[in-house]
Amino acid sequence: MGIRARIDLAALRGNFAVLRRAAPGSHAFAVVKADAYGHGALRVAKSLSGVADGFAVARLGEAMELRDGGIERPILLLEGVSGDDELVVALAAGLDLVVHEPGQIAMFRRLAAGGAHHPPPIVWLKADTGMNRLGFRPEAVLEARSQLLACGVALQDLRLMTHLARADEPGVDTTKAQLARLTSIVTAWQHQAGSRPVVSIGNSAGALLWPAGQGDWIRPGIALYGVAPSAERGSAESGLTPVMTLSTEVIALREVPRGETVGYGGAWQAARDSKIAILAAGYADGLPRHLPSGAPVAFRTGRAPLAGRVSMDMIAVDVTDLPAVAVGERAVLWGEGLPVEEVAGWAGTIAYELLCAVAPRVPREYVG
Ligand SMILES: Cc1ncc(COP(=O)(O)O)c(C=O)c1O
Repeated sequence: MGIRARIDLAALRGNFAVLRRAAPGSHAFAVVKADAYGHGALRVAKSLSGVADGFAVARLGEAMELRDGGIERPILLLEGVSGDDELVVALAAGLDLVVHEPGQIAMFRRLAAGGAHHPPPIVWLKADTGMNRLGFRPEAVLEARSQLLACGVALQDLRLMTHLARADEPGVDTTKAQLARLTSIVTAWQHQAGSRPVVSIGNSAGALLWPAGQGDWIRPGIALYGVAPSAERGSAESGLTPVMTLSTEVIALREVPRGETVGYGGAWQAARDSKIAILAAGYADGLPRHLPSGAPVAFRTGRAPLAGRVSMDMIAVDVTDLPAVAVGERAVLWGEGLPVEEVAGWAGTIAYELLCAVAPRVPREYVG
C-alpha cells in the first residue's frame, strides 16, 4: 500500500474543541490555507463545518475551492485580493476580505466607479502592530478606515484585525506591546466611530497562551492539526492530538556488512554488520532531503534511525536493533507515536513546513 497520510477527523474536531474551551468568548475561523496545512482543505472544512464559525485561507483560489465545494460559512481571505478582477469574484462569492494596504482601497474605489451592484462584504482592516509584514501602521489605521467608508462600496461591516509575531514565546514582551498598540487603535476607533469594532487577533498560540490575545475572532491553524503552538508547552499538555499520521511500508531488507556504505554519496557507513530496511518514502513525497542520519522512524517494535540520504522515493533505516522487521511492515514517519514536531527538530525546521510539504502524490486516507 506504500506511503499514505491517514487524517483523523475525530482528532481534528477534538482539537477544535480544545481551542473553543480555551477561547470560550470568541468566534473561530479555522485556518485551512495551504490545503489545510497538507491535510486536505475541503475535507477538513466539511468536517468542521458544523462547529467552526468560518474558515480562513490565504489566496482566492483556496477560497473558491471551499465555496465551490459547498462550504457556506464565512471564508476570510487573509491576504485580501490582489487585483480588480479578484475583487469582483471575491464579492460575488461572499468572502470576508482583509484590506492591508492602500492599493486595495483603490480597488474598492474603482469598483464603485464602475457602478455594478455587488453583495456588501465584511471587510477586516489589518493593523500592523509590530509584525512588520502586512497591515497599516497604527497611526494610519483610522485614516484607512475613513477612506474605506468613503470609497463608495457598501460594506456589511468594517472590522479590525492584527497578527501576533511571537505569541508562541510566552516569556517575551513583544505580544504585550502588540496588544497595547491594538488597544490604543480600538479606543481611537471607538472615539471616531462611536462603537468598538469587532476584532480578530490570535492565531493558535495567541488563542491558547494569551487570553488577552484572542479577540472576538480567533484564527487558529496549527493547533487544529494537533501541533502545540509553543515549544514550551507540548501538544499532550495542551490536550491536542495529532491529526496526520504519515506512514509507509518496508519494501526491502538488506544485510550490510561492517564498513560498507548505504545510499547516495555513501553518506552512512555501517559501524557493525547491519540490517537495513528500505522504506517507500522520499523527498518527492515531502520528506526533507536534508533530514539527517539518526532521525527516528517508528516501527511496530520500536524506533530506528535513518541511515544515509533521503532519496526521491526511498529512505534507508538501520533496524539492526529491532526484532523481526519484515518486508510489508508499516512504519510511521510522523504522527501517532512520533510527533511531527520531533521530526521537524531533526530537520531543522518547524512542523508547519513538514505538514504543508506532503506531496499531492501521497494518498490521504480519512478516518473518523
Ligand atoms: C494572518 C494569519 N492568521 C492566522 C494564522 C494561523 O496561524 P497558526 O497556524 O500559527 O495558528 C496564520 C498562519 O500563518 C496567519 O498568517
